[in-house]
Parts: sequence; C-alpha cells; structure tokens
Amino acid sequence: EKGGYDHYMLKEIHEQPTALRQALSGRIDLERGTADLDLTFPAGFLDSLDEIQFVACGTSFYAAHYAAHLTESFADVRATAELASEYTVDGGGDPRRTLTVAVTQSGETADTLGALRRANGTGIRTLAVTNTLGSTVTRDADDSLFIRAGPEIGVAATKTFASQVTTMALLSVFVAQERNALSAADARDVLTDLRGLPGAVQQVLDDAGDVREAATAFVDASAYFFVSRAHGYPVALEGALKLKEIAYDHAEGFAAGELKHGPLALVTEDTPILAVLTEGTRPEETLNNVAEAQTRGAPAIGIVDGSVETNSLDTAFSVPSLGPVTPLVANVYFQLFAYAIANQQGRSIDKPRNLAKSVTVE
Ligand code: F6R
Repeated sequence: EKGGYDHYMLKEIHEQPTALRQALSGRIDLERGTADLDLTFPAGFLDSLDEIQFVACGTSFYAAHYAAHLTESFADVRATAELASEYTVDGGGDPRRTLTVAVTQSGETADTLGALRRANGTGIRTLAVTNTLGSTVTRDADDSLFIRAGPEIGVAATKTFASQVTTMALLSVFVAQERNALSAADARDVLTDLRGLPGAVQQVLDDAGDVREAATAFVDASAYFFVSRAHGYPVALEGALKLKEIAYDHAEGFAAGELKHGPLALVTEDTPILAVLTEGTRPEETLNNVAEAQTRGAPAIGIVDGSVETNSLDTAFSVPSLGPVTPLVANVYFQLFAYAIANQQGRSIDKPRNLAKSVTVE
C-alpha cells in the first residue's frame, strides 16, 4: 500500500508530479492564455472586488499566504492571508466587495469552518479550496474549487500543499483575467511556468539521495532556521513546520530581513540556515542575511536557480526557474530534508506524536 516506500509521507512526496498534473488538467488554455476553472461568479463581482481574504490553518495557511502574494501581483486587488483561528470580520471593508477563500485540505478543520461561518454571516461571498469532495467546507461555502491531490494519509501535509498553491495560482490568473489586470501574453507566461511544475518537481525528486546525504551532516543540529522573502517566505515557514512536526526538532521560518532584528541571537554553529534564493524572492538581499548567520558559524544551505551568485553557500541544491512558482519546487527539497532528518532519528513519521490529520475542534 505504501508502494514500496517506507512511509506514506515519502510516497506522497513522490506523488507530487502526478498530483500537480491532476490539478492542472483541463484548466489551462495556452493558446488563449486563460485559466479555465469551473467557477461562475455573479456578473461584475470579481471586477468590483476590493479584497480577497484567504483563511486557513497550518500548512494550508502557508499555501494561502503564497496565494495571497500571487493574487496581489497578478490581479491588482488587495489580498491577505489570515489564520482562521484569528479571523474576525470586524473592521473589514464592504462585504459585497470582499471574497473570502477558505483553504482546507480535509474540508473539516473546525477553525477554518468557524472563519467561513463568520464570513458567511456578514454576507461575504465565500469559496472553498479543498481536496475533499462532499466535505463540510464544500457545503458551507458558496462555491468550491478542488485541488485534486488524491488521498493524503501521512499526517504531515506534502502533496496537498503543492496542489493547493498550484490550484490557487490558477485561481489568481482566473481572477486577474476577469479584472483585466493581466494581458494574455503575461498570463501565458505564468501558465507555461505552471505547466512546467510536474517536470521540475520530478527533477528535484531525482536528487533525493543527495538531500539524504547532505542531511546526515545536520542531524544533531540544535535548531534549524529557514529564511526567504516574498513568496519564498511562506515556503520557509512551511519548511520549518515540516521539520517540527515529523522530527520534533526546533525549527523556525523567518522573513530573512527579520534575522538581524532578533533571531540572529539564536544563531550558532549548531543552527543550520536553509534559504530559498530564487528569482523574484530578492535573493541578493537574503544572501546577505545568510552571510550574517555564516559569520556566526552557521552552515548555510541554499535552494538556488542560478539567478544569483551563490558560491558562498556551504551546500546548494538547484531548481529550474519557473517564475512565480519556483519556491514551490524549492519546497520539495525542504520536504525531503525534513523527512531525512526525521527518518535518521527513527521518528513516527506518518503519525507524529500529539498530532491528528484532521483537527475538528476549535
Ligand atoms: C501540517 C498539517 C496541518 C494542516 C492544518 C490544516 O503538515 O497537516 O498544519 O495543514 O491542520 O488542515 P486542513 O488543510 O485539512 O484544513
């Protein structure tokens, strides 16, 4: 059942190319330069939006954070990601000009359903982005968009994160086009990058042995710090969460610029720093922050795409450049890294202590 893999998590990491193909299937028209989603909104609704709010928890929140970046950059609309457990509708704008998107793999997360209920209660139009047909979120939201990742058994979310970001990247192009914010040529560029995802992720998976080997050197670290900027930042947060969940080691994701505002005090030679240094995430600046950590003895591991000179890194892993979705490919290295660190410590990877796949209490 685990398809020859030691854990469901590893199997699901390796299923990502297939999951992404499914997420994209029939949803890209390259000739016309459009994202074709089976979604209908009232006439003029998307065009007159003031704000799109993505609400979610945990890994889905990081996918939401990534999606908010893409939506703002393509669709010329204010887009925010909010933790579902902190979401209030107080002080928001005009509910008729707001769309709230509830992002939940299971479709049953109580905090996310609670946020959705609060949005519905003010008359805000709501959209569910989920992996689960017939789940509660699909009944409670006005519309649903499926990420088509297939069942995920490992408690730690892996392929569903990739499928959520990919599906919401399509959504951001869809919204941008309805708002005339993105030319067909620019849309075609983004859609071509999305098309490249399954192959790029496969390339990273083919390097899994190298990641395992590199991770061996860091298994005794006292903490792991993940950094990046822009849409690389949610990937840094997600990288740290995976490591916490399955290895039970201390890991934190930081906006790279914040390192010097406090966290640098934690940096020693026993705290490796892992950075996403790809185009569009302001890699030169992040590299400077990484250098500050290296000066304190921290080993530096970078995920790079050739957009900056990265000779100063101790270890580098390459990803193909795929424009705004390159950090999503970089994330696969972080998944493999967390898995390798946890596996070397003999952790209960598919069922980490204290965690459940679906959290149905607020
Ligand atoms: C992390 C993880 C959790 C979930 C969170 C939301 O690996 O699995 O952080 O992402 O509990 O779950 P869903 O997406 O089902 O709402």
